[in-house]
Amino acid sequence: MNAIDGDMNVLEKQKHGRRKKQMETKLVRIENPTAVRDEDLKEAAQILREGGLVAFPTETVYGLGANALDETAAKKIYAAKGRPSDNPLIAHISCMRELGPLVSEIPEAALLLARAYWPGPMTLVLPKSTRVPYGTTGGLDTVAVRMPSDPVANRLIRLAGVPVAAPSANLSGRPSPTTAEHVRQDMDGRIEMILDGGPVGIGVESTIVDLSGETPTLLRPGAVTMEMLRTVLGAVEIDPAIVGPPQEGLRPKAPGMKYRHYAPRAELTLFEGEPAAMTAAINRAAAEQLAVGKRVGVICTDETKDGYCDGVLLRSVGARAYEETIAHNLFAVLREFDDFDVDLIYSEGFPRDHLGQAIMNRLVKAAGYREVKV
Ligand code: TXA
Ligand code: MG
Repeated sequence: MNAIDGDMNVLEKQKHGRRKKQMETKLVRIENPTAVRDEDLKEAAQILREGGLVAFPTETVYGLGANALDETAAKKIYAAKGRPSDNPLIAHISCMRELGPLVSEIPEAALLLARAYWPGPMTLVLPKSTRVPYGTTGGLDTVAVRMPSDPVANRLIRLAGVPVAAPSANLSGRPSPTTAEHVRQDMDGRIEMILDGGPVGIGVESTIVDLSGETPTLLRPGAVTMEMLRTVLGAVEIDPAIVGPPQEGLRPKAPGMKYRHYAPRAELTLFEGEPAAMTAAINRAAAEQLAVGKRVGVICTDETKDGYCDGVLLRSVGARAYEETIAHNLFAVLREFDDFDVDLIYSEGFPRDHLGQAIMNRLVKAAGYREVKV
């Protein structure tokens, strides 16, 4: 990736430093995340059992965990994130035995998907049991459940002995954290502990599938792609909220999708088309803006990065040939742009199938649906 000038730390401090510290946040580094030892997680598990908050790595993004069966603990999550309390939380489990107590029924489709993609980056929305408090589900009669494959996450949940409610561990309105440092920037002084298991693998949040209605419906695209869901289930619908801007009278089924999602401080415009055509169009737009004294940032790719004009702040988000590198870097690059003094950001777009559906879903939202087809 290209380096860009700018003192991140100073800017970070200016932006977040004014917040009052409410508690000392303990940072615990997991030396060997793939062979994590129980003793490294014992204290974190105890904090969760006692109603406290622990941020931990998962294979998608870092999560901010609390006991999902404890309404008071769930409330602390909303306070720490500054998140509206009608936005429900995902309950994380470590194995299939832990699913039954959370739901009132397990449809066949859930068993098929679980067998194919759990543990992994997939969340299933199912009718909730009476054990799950409305404080966790944002008042809904359904509960979202995920079984993470990340060894630190999975073992932590097992040791806690309770299902762990965990949204992404960012302040509401910031990009989801993909490193423990991102979590620290947003959550230092607000939670009991951060487990540092290194950078996450995938980089975008889990696929959410609603199985509580007639037809399975995709509520949020992720690394378990639409194509992968259809292989197992056949018919899968797409919640319209994924595709277009919020419309009057059309309520997204995942309440979180209705909130203004992460939007960079500088206005982001998303270009869509062939790589060479996007580069040319972005260069033209950038030249116009540079001519009137604006500072322009560009999100490009390894394949296109040499084609941009001088004077723009250039960041490659990954390689088109390896889409997973783009998912992996996307939120970190967006976070960085928040710290650069640019007036406008232009981003290349990506094909909307497979993992590209998840990548474009996050980019389109960050752009506030400001798209230019070339
Ligand atoms: O990958 C992930 O899913 C990460 C990691 C930490 O597991 N978690 C995550 O949580 O992204 P969060 O809270 O940032 O996003 C959860 C989304 C929200 O849009 C929420 O509205 C939706 O899931 N959701 C939760 N429960 C739901 C339910 N019962 N029905 C419909 N949507 C639900
Ligand atoms: Mg989130």
